Amino acid sequence: MIVEPKVKGFICTTAHPVGCEKNVERQIDYVKNAGKIDGAKNVLVIGASTGYGLASRISAAFGMGASTIGVSFEKEASGKRTATPGYYNTLAFDKACSNAGIYSKSINGDAFSREIKAEVIDIIKKDLGKVDLVVYSLASPRRTTPDGTTYTSTLKTVGEPFTQKNWNLRDDTISDATIAVANDEEIASTVKVMGGEDWIDWIDALVDADVIADNAITVAYSYIGPKLTYPIYHEGTIGQAKAHVFESSKEITKKMQDKNIKAYVSVNKALVTQASAAIPVVPLYLSVLYKVMKEKGVHEGCIEQMYRLYKDKVYNGEVSLESDGMIHVDDYEMQEDVQKEVMTVWDKIDSDNLKELADTKGYWEDFYNMFGFRIDGVDYQADVEV
Ligand code: NAI
Repeated sequence: MIVEPKVKGFICTTAHPVGCEKNVERQIDYVKNAGKIDGAKNVLVIGASTGYGLASRISAAFGMGASTIGVSFEKEASGKRTATPGYYNTLAFDKACSNAGIYSKSINGDAFSREIKAEVIDIIKKDLGKVDLVVYSLASPRRTTPDGTTYTSTLKTVGEPFTQKNWNLRDDTISDATIAVANDEEIASTVKVMGGEDWIDWIDALVDADVIADNAITVAYSYIGPKLTYPIYHEGTIGQAKAHVFESSKEITKKMQDKNIKAYVSVNKALVTQASAAIPVVPLYLSVLYKVMKEKGVHEGCIEQMYRLYKDKVYNGEVSLESDGMIHVDDYEMQEDVQKEVMTVWDKIDSDNLKELADTKGYWEDFYNMFGFRIDGVDYQADVEV
């Protein structure tokens, strides 16, 4: 069938299989050109099909030459519905690995469940023996814990309501959005979903089954960003969960001392992904940031970020930690000159000058690309097998 984008606000309900494949190939090419990373040999990526997790997996396979197991939760096509982009990305990744003679195995299922953990452990035992890098890159709106309780995460502020400029993606206008205050239950639920509890469960399960190597590394991803977005991110419900992720990294490292397994948090740059597009205020910040960073020649996408993370910060001798105890690949985003300019633009931006002051084009390009659309070299009029 002919697949067209169907965009509703921050989500696109279709995905193009050929475009997604091209997108994956483009990232693989980037890594191949950037050169080898002297890193891990056997890598497990949890949340491996899109965004930062996919870019991590590509960096591992094509940069480190590592065997990878990827876990993700994607929908296959049914009838006239296309599959989700992560589904196509994973097929494309596995195909590229197979062509290159690199081992890859992809599991589609709920990473929060005991069953998927057991399935992954069996595969590691059978095919790889032990893993020496575990990337934890889940972004999910809900989690069902092993006792059967389902928790939902919320994107709200904590303390007082927060009002800030917001880009209405449906009509390209700017107006104030007020973010509601989360109650204690909503905060606790968000921590359950996006905090570090399941990361700890994964590492415990891998250690118990003896499928994680001594001296292994595990990395989870976080975001801090500028003061402007603190009330919705860093100090909001999601920020509480991220604080929990950092505490969990310390807990894992302490608990696994005798095996010298170390857990790290990498603070990444703000980028358009399915997870970030859903956060109020953030898309406007992103499009202003893109404009400033592109003008300064320091803009990066997921693949540039993850390649740099593993090449320069994780596997370049000592893991490079900043004074807060975390790895930072948000360094360019947080540069003083970048932030100063973003804030100057932010103060001035309105519906009339939006397209001139912000890189809305770049935002939408990334957005459509994520779903396999608007990618050079793809014939969108052609009939494709979904
Ligand atoms: P994403 O939405 O692109 O990827 C999420 C991944 O998790 C996908 O592979 C999806 O299939 C998988 N997933 C979701 N629920 C699952 C489940 N129950 N079982 C198995 N797999 C599941 O998100 P993105 O943006 O790449 O986020 C990854 C991490 O990076 C998150 O921790 C996020 O907070 C963090 N981060 C994101 C930033 C951004 O600007 N996008 C910035 C800094 C950190």
